[in-house]
Amino acid sequence: MRYLAIDLGQKRVGLAISDAGQSMAFPLVVLEAGPGLISRIAEIVRSEKAGFIVIGLPLNMDGSEGPRAKASREFAVQLTKAVSVPITLFDERLSSAEADWKLAGSDLTRDDRKKRQDAIAAAVFLQAFLEQQKDIMNKPRIMILQSAMETAQKAVMHFCERVQDAIEKRGVCYCALSGGSSPKMFFELLVRETLDWQRIHFFWADERCVEPDHPDSNYSMAQISLLSQVPVPSSQVHRIWGELPPAEAADQYQNTIRSVMKLQAGQWPFLDVVLLGLGADGHTASLLAGTDVVDNQYDIAAAVFSQTMPHTRVTLTAPALTAARSLLFIITGSSKQEILREILIPPLRPWQYPVHALWSAVDKMTWFVDAQAAVLMHSVH
Ligand code: 6PG
Repeated sequence: MRYLAIDLGQKRVGLAISDAGQSMAFPLVVLEAGPGLISRIAEIVRSEKAGFIVIGLPLNMDGSEGPRAKASREFAVQLTKAVSVPITLFDERLSSAEADWKLAGSDLTRDDRKKRQDAIAAAVFLQAFLEQQKDIMNKPRIMILQSAMETAQKAVMHFCERVQDAIEKRGVCYCALSGGSSPKMFFELLVRETLDWQRIHFFWADERCVEPDHPDSNYSMAQISLLSQVPVPSSQVHRIWGELPPAEAADQYQNTIRSVMKLQAGQWPFLDVVLLGLGADGHTASLLAGTDVVDNQYDIAAAVFSQTMPHTRVTLTAPALTAARSLLFIITGSSKQEILREILIPPLRPWQYPVHALWSAVDKMTWFVDAQAAVLMHSVH
C-alpha cells in the first residue's frame, strides 16, 4: 500500500508519495491551492494508487493548534468527501525547516527550490510518519501450529501457565473468556487440566444481550463446555447479565469487577489472562468497527449497539483489556487469512480494525494461530 502526503500551504500544496513497501518517501508534485484542488488530489490518489493519506498538521512549536492547524483539519474533512481512502493528520513541525536545509545543499536554482520546497516538505514528514509507523507496528508473539487442535492445546498450556503464575504470586487468578467458535475446543481441553480451580475467578471479555441459557450466550457456551465440569465456586463465576437492558448490564458488570477486585475509583481491572478471538473483520471481544465503544477510554465495560451483529452486546473496553497482564488470542481457520495479513501492515487503524485499539498492549499478546489462518501472514514477516 502506498501513502500520499499533503503539505497544505495557503498558495501552494506539496504532495509526496511512499513506495509500496512503505519504507521511502519521495516528493511528487506541487499544486496551486484554490478551487479544484480537492478533485486534483482525488485524481492523484487514483493515478498513484494511494491507499492512505497523511495530511501535515502545522502545530505551533509548543504543540498548540493555531489557524493553520484548524485549516488542515477542515481540509481533511472536505477531502474525506472526495476520496474513499483513510486520512490521518500528522505533526509536521520542523518538516519545512528540514526541507529548507535539504534544499540548501542542492544545486537547484532559487526558483526551482521555491517550486519544489512544498513537495520536499511533504516528503520529509511522510518519511517521519513511515518511521513512526514501523516503531508502532510491533508484532505480537505469534505461535503458528499445524492444526486447530494443536493450536487449542498450546493455548491451553499457555493459559494454565498464566493461571498458575497468578496463583503462586497473588493467591488468586482473574481470567476473562470470549465467545465465538474458537474457544469451544479450548474449553473442552481445559476441562482435563489440573488447576487450583477454587482460586480462579471467571469473567467475560464480552457477552451477547440474551438470556444466560440462550444458545448464543458466551456464558452458556463456557458453562456447558467448561464450568459445569470443574469445581469453580459459583460465586467466582461473574457472568455479564445479558438479560438486563444493555446499559444496565454494562453498569452491573463493571460494578461487579470493581467489587471483586476491590478497585479504587479510576483504577483499571487487573485481569491475569484474557482469552480473545479475532473476527474476520478485525474485531475482538465486542469492539466492533463503526461503534463508539472502540474509542471508549473511560468505562470498564460498555454496551455495543451494532447494525451488523444479531444481538446488542456488552464488552470490556480497550483500556480494560490492555490493562490485563496477558492477552491470549486463538485464531484459526481459512476465514482469518486476509485479516491476519491486513492487521500486521502499518498503520494502526482501530476505526477499521478494532483489534488495533489493543496495540498498546502488543507486548502482552500471544497469538495461537493455525496454519490455515496463517498462510498469508509470511508475506509481512
Ligand atoms: C463473540 C466473541 C468474538 C469472537 C470473534 C472470533 O462474542 O463473538 O467474543 O469477539 O472472539 O468474533 O470468533 P470465532 O472464534 O468464532 O472466530
